[in-house]
Amino acid sequence: MQKKILIIGGGYVGLYTAIKLINNEQIKKIDILDIDKKKIDKWKNLKNPISDLYLEDFLQKNKSFFKKINYLNKANFENYHFFILTLPTNPEKRKIINWQSSKNNILSTNKIFSYCKKIKNIKKNSKIIIRSTVNYNDYLKIDDLNISYWPEFLSQGQKIDKNINGHKIIFAKAKNFTKKDILNLIPEQKYKNIIFVKTNEAIMIKIFHNSFDAFSITISNLLANISQKNNIKFSNLIPILNDLLKIKPRVKTPGLGYGGSCYPKDSRSLLNILNSKKDLKLINQLDKYNLNQQKSYKNYLNLIKKNDKILILGISFKGQTNDITETPIKSLVNYLIRKKYNFKIWEPNLDKLNLKMINKNINEQNIIKNIEKDLKECNIIFIGSDWDIFNKFIKEKKIKDKKIIDLKGYLSISKENIHYRIGDTFNINY
Ligand SMILES: NC(=O)c1ccc[n+]([C@@H]2O[C@H](COP(=O)([O-])OP(=O)(O)OC[C@H]3O[C@@H](n4cnc5c(N)ncnc54)[C@H](O)[C@@H]3O)[C@@H](O)[C@H]2O)c1
Repeated sequence: MQKKILIIGGGYVGLYTAIKLINNEQIKKIDILDIDKKKIDKWKNLKNPISDLYLEDFLQKNKSFFKKINYLNKANFENYHFFILTLPTNPEKRKIINWQSSKNNILSTNKIFSYCKKIKNIKKNSKIIIRSTVNYNDYLKIDDLNISYWPEFLSQGQKIDKNINGHKIIFAKAKNFTKKDILNLIPEQKYKNIIFVKTNEAIMIKIFHNSFDAFSITISNLLANISQKNNIKFSNLIPILNDLLKIKPRVKTPGLGYGGSCYPKDSRSLLNILNSKKDLKLINQLDKYNLNQQKSYKNYLNLIKKNDKILILGISFKGQTNDITETPIKSLVNYLIRKKYNFKIWEPNLDKLNLKMINKNINEQNIIKNIEKDLKECNIIFIGSDWDIFNKFIKEKKIKDKKIIDLKGYLSISKENIHYRIGDTFNINY
């Protein structure tokens, strides 16, 4: 028998969730509780209560959904097995102008938690899933109340199928949720597509995902404004830029920041063609942020002892390039020289590089002649560049039992399925 599901809050996300679950065909009926009489009446009259053209079209073509989904203004919680909360959570102080103050951005999630408590009071072990956007710190309450969190990534005004099947499901499972519980909601073949994470991770993924989008929009607008001021039609450039930027996963991998012969030069060129003080400030800040990132090695200095043998694997800005122009690893090299540490550097074709460009005090002793020998002898390895050959070292077990500080996020993207996190320090024990 189908377990009974109640969605609380029948807006965009609530209705979408109902459609998503029913679309899987194993669920025949879902109830939605809402306080908006207009929405309930619309639904009863076979009308779409949410303004979205794709949703409208979908419901017109799939009228059976009006029978399978039921809008209610009252519900007896005792009758349900699963509760899915999709209530609004906008910050209360909507009139406050200064959004940049953190106090004004607190989402009002109290209603959600009072529903959760009410449900738990009636049915202690009830299975509750929150889908609303919540504050990062709400993970404490969510975990404490033993509730699951399933963030929603729907894009309003997009095709239904894209929203329903467009990406994997990210799910933070409460302790009282079994695999069987989830299989009651999602069919076996889709279960494989679920990525299980902790509650705080799920909330962070939601925040980061939308921040990527939001800041990309800001950068696009900044560049479009610069373009306009220089009498160039940005709309002519967009398709060309989109094509050029299509496949660049590396730009999303955090590490030491950028260097090389193009990124610093071209991004700073913007400073020459700007005539807005605000834009100038923003670009200067972005550049400054990047330069500061080069000092991220400082977070790991406590791991180095005075007599350690340090090895820097990779000194070019990008693996496979030998490009040491403005390479971000320069900061670390300068530091080690200044503090007289015992360190060596290596990357392929090192002999062809003018290392004086990095620091004029680099000498013969700092250069690795026999990488295999030095890999054995060193205590600490800093990964400073993402050369594919480092993967080979790992595969051939040449890096063993060393303290590794991955400044480049290299191991997180390496093809060897070694899922270490960026900036993590670890030993590789095979
Ligand atoms: N819309 C999106 O694209 C989107 C995407 C991801 C996450 N979210 C998040 O999901 C949550 C819901 O967003 P939405 O866009 O569906 O909002 P919405 O305003 O469209 O829907 C909320 C619904 O909840 C109902 N409601 C309000 N108070 C209620 C109560 N006390 N009891 C029962 N029902 C009540 C409202 O009448 C409304 O129908 C928010 O936290 C939002 O940030 C939205």
